[in-house]
Amino acid sequence: MTAFRQSLVEYHERSKHRVNHYAPGPGELDWATQPNPFREFRGAPQIGLPLAADTLATRYNDVRRGNLPPPRAFDLRNIAILFELSLGLSAWKSYGANRWALRCNPSSGNLHPTEGYLLCRPLAGLSAGVYHYLSRDHLLEQRAAVNDPRWSEGFSGNGVLVGISSIYWREAWKYGMRAWRYCQHDCGHAIAAVSYAAAALGWQTRLICSAADEAVAGLLGLDRSEDFGFAEAEAPDALLWVGDSDVPPDLERMRAALNKARWYGRANQLSSGHVQWQDIDSIHRVTHKSLTREPAPPDRGQRTPPAPPALDLDFARIARQRRSAVNFDGTTHITAAAFFAMLECLIAQRDTPPWNALASPALVHPALLVHRVDGLEPGLYLLLRNPAFLSRMKQSMRPEWLWQKAGPAHLPLYFLLPYDLRDVAKLICCHQDIGADSCFALGMLAQFDAALNEPWRYRHLFWECGILGHVLYLEAEAAGVRSTGIGCFFDDEMHALLGIEDHSWQSLYHFTMGGAVDDRRLSTLPPYEFQP
Ligand SMILES: Cc1cc2nc3c(=O)[nH]c(=O)nc-3n(C[C@H](O)[C@H](O)[C@H](O)COP(=O)(O)O)c2cc1C
Repeated sequence: MTAFRQSLVEYHERSKHRVNHYAPGPGELDWATQPNPFREFRGAPQIGLPLAADTLATRYNDVRRGNLPPPRAFDLRNIAILFELSLGLSAWKSYGANRWALRCNPSSGNLHPTEGYLLCRPLAGLSAGVYHYLSRDHLLEQRAAVNDPRWSEGFSGNGVLVGISSIYWREAWKYGMRAWRYCQHDCGHAIAAVSYAAAALGWQTRLICSAADEAVAGLLGLDRSEDFGFAEAEAPDALLWVGDSDVPPDLERMRAALNKARWYGRANQLSSGHVQWQDIDSIHRVTHKSLTREPAPPDRGQRTPPAPPALDLDFARIARQRRSAVNFDGTTHITAAAFFAMLECLIAQRDTPPWNALASPALVHPALLVHRVDGLEPGLYLLLRNPAFLSRMKQSMRPEWLWQKAGPAHLPLYFLLPYDLRDVAKLICCHQDIGADSCFALGMLAQFDAALNEPWRYRHLFWECGILGHVLYLEAEAAGVRSTGIGCFFDDEMHALLGIEDHSWQSLYHFTMGGAVDDRRLSTLPPYEFQP
């Protein structure tokens, strides 16, 4: 085993939560160093964005079926809608004297390590450059002004780039070693959130898979140590091409143009003190990504469009009302038809969000612990998102599983075991009641050897999990129920249930869905009090 592979396996094993001990964390929370949830670049010119999402009439059902509206113009107003409905605030919550913001994108512990950037050529209302999105105030901070013509030439098609980075410290402050995993999940959620919002504007989203980390850092200005000083570093994650055509941008040309750019602003420091998590530094190094070739888009057949959800809501409403349930009632059922429609949305389609963002073949498959789905026997099911893996999956799991085809013929869903798994689901979710009180819980089985062969893919496996989770969040809202991402789970308890004994498949993220019970002690305030 190469040293890199070994370090990756070590991180993976040591960051597992186990029934008898949790992954290394900070112990008690140090409230004095609680990170500021908002990154700002002080001194950078600010461009206020209009709150225009309410003018968007696109229905959620059309977006999830891939029926996109005609592409809108790339101008300030539409860029504002893109950010408002993906990384923007969705509400403020308050309890006593405490007030905290929620966003359209979820985040483990609501810590929001993810930062968003915009790179554009001159657009109506925006000059060419690099911008950081400050969700608190719904504005863009101009990090770089670029006049070199190579910048605009780099955007060969009609569109913009959205950049994503992570501030690991924000999560590590609370979760220690396992925090790096959560940052990756959150990145996946952010990719999906951007892809959905872009689709509601008629735009396609493609992850630029070939980009090296250095290229992403250079284009977003994350490598400008003079602008960061003692402020927490941002790790380069992803560049998304958001456009109305498939012409990829020429990143090299754009980077060359940045040599003559004028940069503005200094990053704010989020905490007065930090704890260095060596394991996070190590997994960051191990999963470094160099320049690769863009993968050929997989041959994805036409999927059967999912049945309409129970509620026919507009996309803007669904994006902003998405919430995590804190408790489930333990009684709500969903219908088998609604359940199958949700699963259909998890099957990748080239031009349908959020799967349009990923060119790689599906490597993650949900194993479902079904408790309360009318017309479906409670028990263990598997949705094999890539049917090519059927025999490998069978070999890796208990020989006694039924592998009985379930649901509509076109849905690659298999029934493995009839059983009441409520107690098991609760145990696997680190004893959280929402595992048992849900309609169903699930673990996402990732083809782990993809990461062992190319360590940077470890990040992408978590992203794929986050994307799957985001589909479930939105589908739950449209079905009149609610979801919750579960980062706290006992990894090897899930593997033991399934009979997985090696690293061929590893469960990287869990999820639950059910009838939510709200915490009535909390008040909800609108996301942006000012009106344009
Ligand atoms: C990667 C990830 C892991 C999470 N893990 C848990 C969990 O184990 N238990 C839980 O109750 N909520 C969990 N959540 C939900 C977050 O606490 C929630 O997203 C956050 O508080 C923000 O609230 P919102 O989703 O309603 O916007 C998780 C969310 C994400 C994205």
